[in-house]
Amino acid sequence: MSSVKIVYWSGTGNTESMANAVADGVRNAGGTAEVLPVSAVSAADLAADKAFALGCPSMGAEQLEEGEMEPFMAELESSIAGKQIGLFGSYGWGNCEWMRDWEDRCSSAGATVVNGEGVTFLGEPDADTISALNDLGAALCGLA
Ligand SMILES: Cc1cc2nc3c(=O)[nH]c(=O)nc-3n(C[C@H](O)[C@H](O)[C@H](O)COP(=O)(O)O)c2cc1C
Repeated sequence: MSSVKIVYWSGTGNTESMANAVADGVRNAGGTAEVLPVSAVSAADLAADKAFALGCPSMGAEQLEEGEMEPFMAELESSIAGKQIGLFGSYGWGNCEWMRDWEDRCSSAGATVVNGEGVTFLGEPDADTISALNDLGAALCGLA
């Protein structure tokens, strides 16, 4: 059975809701999902995984959250070549530059961003976004 890890950081719960929607999609597709706060994971934990999801809201000035997610991503970058990564996150007012940068970073490191781009939404995810995240989970289940 496919097993998919969903690693996220969330300050006020919006990106956490998105992580849970990805997990629902994995489970509905018949896989097992682990929803893990980034504080509980190291890059080595993903070394054997072909496909996984990463979630983080836009923080700083269009950046990944700097205390936990940015150091995690910096550590992960050297070991994601060939992997399939689903990206997602909530934002508040910007133009999703943080997600475009994150996609580029994954691609430059040799990974494939599933569906070519991350799933983003302003604030709390709506029904269409939850549905897109369910689909992302199902896709990751098929790739894991
Ligand atoms: C310190 C801080 C910096 C932020 N910087 C940005 C930003 O640069 N661009 C943006 O669109 N939203 C920004 N936001 C808004 C968050 O991305 C938004 O509130 C998001 O929904 C939070 O997701 P969460 O509930 O998963 O923590 C910022 C929020 C905080 C608290």
